[in-house]
Amino acid sequence: MSSRIIPVEPFDYVVFGATGDLTKRKLIPALYYRFFDGQFDEQSRIIGVSRSPWDDAKMQEVARESVNAYVDESYRDAKTIDRFVSCFSYVPNDVMDQEGWAELSDKLRDDTNVTRAFYLAVAPNLFEPICNYLSKKNYWRPDARVVLEKPLGHDLESSVEINDAVARVFTEDQVYRIDHYLGKETVQNLLALRFANTMFEPIWNSAHIDHVQITVAESVGAGTRGYYDESGALRDMIQNHILQLLCLVAMEPPASDDANALRDEKLKVLRSLKPITNSDVARNSVRGQYRGVKSESTAVASYQDELPADKKGSLTETFVALKAEVENWRWAGVPFYIRTGKRLATRVSEIVIQFREVPHSIFDHAEGAPKSNKLVIRLQPDEGVKLFMMIKDPGPGGMRLREVNLNLSFADTFSERTPEAYERLLLDVVRGNQTLFMRRDELEAAWKWVDPIRDAWNASSEAPQPYTAGTWGPTGSIALIERDGRTWHEEGDY
Ligand code: BG6
Repeated sequence: MSSRIIPVEPFDYVVFGATGDLTKRKLIPALYYRFFDGQFDEQSRIIGVSRSPWDDAKMQEVARESVNAYVDESYRDAKTIDRFVSCFSYVPNDVMDQEGWAELSDKLRDDTNVTRAFYLAVAPNLFEPICNYLSKKNYWRPDARVVLEKPLGHDLESSVEINDAVARVFTEDQVYRIDHYLGKETVQNLLALRFANTMFEPIWNSAHIDHVQITVAESVGAGTRGYYDESGALRDMIQNHILQLLCLVAMEPPASDDANALRDEKLKVLRSLKPITNSDVARNSVRGQYRGVKSESTAVASYQDELPADKKGSLTETFVALKAEVENWRWAGVPFYIRTGKRLATRVSEIVIQFREVPHSIFDHAEGAPKSNKLVIRLQPDEGVKLFMMIKDPGPGGMRLREVNLNLSFADTFSERTPEAYERLLLDVVRGNQTLFMRRDELEAAWKWVDPIRDAWNASSEAPQPYTAGTWGPTGSIALIERDGRTWHEEGDY
């Protein structure tokens, strides 16, 4: 991989919220891999900012621990780690008061050849005060970039407020809103699959596709993250990650890979989503919450058991299934079934394109009816693409039809390590490439679609349907798709 690495100009990356989990688990390991591959060197600086009274030495120690804990052993090399951690420094700063700010401005280099980026991995209520400080001349430059981590609001209104506050300081071309799903290799591969091959595009429409399924299943629980109970699966996964996946599947071919060309097309999809409101909500949405399992061999706590005492009885959903529709010429009448949840049977993210049946079968007398083709794009784990198709079962004895799959397994095909999503995204900020970041209008269109679903749930007296940890969610989710004579794809090899 290193042969294709194009080094970036030196940068000053300021990370607000540097003592948090995201920095330790995701940002530092991602930066390390890029450093290891030679994409940047010690001329670049990573400046942690947070309230804790750390100093440079402590920040470097945490960076070292993070590399040792989260970077694959074969990439850990003592000398490289020493060089890497030397890029780190730290400024203790309660962003709500003045003191630490002067120290931060001293650390920033006043050199336009050094890219300047501010990463806000903090609670969204801090975006406004931080941006206000960053508007001062010691920090703000026309080419400075600001990176926003989720949650970007909890509904349309709060999201508009956040975006307005940021927009008072930074222009849209300086703003990088992270949706880490867009940084995943396999998600970017969706673009290659659709637009670098001729065979799919002519049949990528309602004439040939019966329906689409998007599943993002996690086997882990919601744990004790306070944020999750405020958010729930609809806001945590659907509003951002899954709608972005849906956009990449459903969008028209953009004129180029230019950031705005692509985002314009995604926006059109979001705006074409048929609203799910009031009476449709009961029919087209299912929410669930996991209950625990206790047997001789396993004990898995229920969501309720994981909650602190003051949150017991919470109606937060840990599972959502929806039937969405994109109302435009290409997709009229093609349902998009989407589901996501915690504590499901296994961890798997995939997109299934279910094609229509053959218009006329000549194999009435064959054993086994022809099944319609299916393209399964596996995003994680075991990344790859499978095309299910019918063949004649080899051998004599009449015509027997059998379903087989053409299997493009990334692990078998490529020897390179699959980069983590944040590797690509962090360095795209430095390069000034906004393609894989959400534009403001996309984010707001997504909230606009999601909010009425949440409102209807809040207004309803029904609680989320219970499902047992380790299963595929509540029975309502099965009913949602079976009612239409269709079935969730399960290959049996999960
Ligand atoms: C995050 C959500 O955005 O994505 C988490 O807040 C979720 O709840 C995570 O677990 C899933 O990401 P990935 O990359 O593990 O699929």
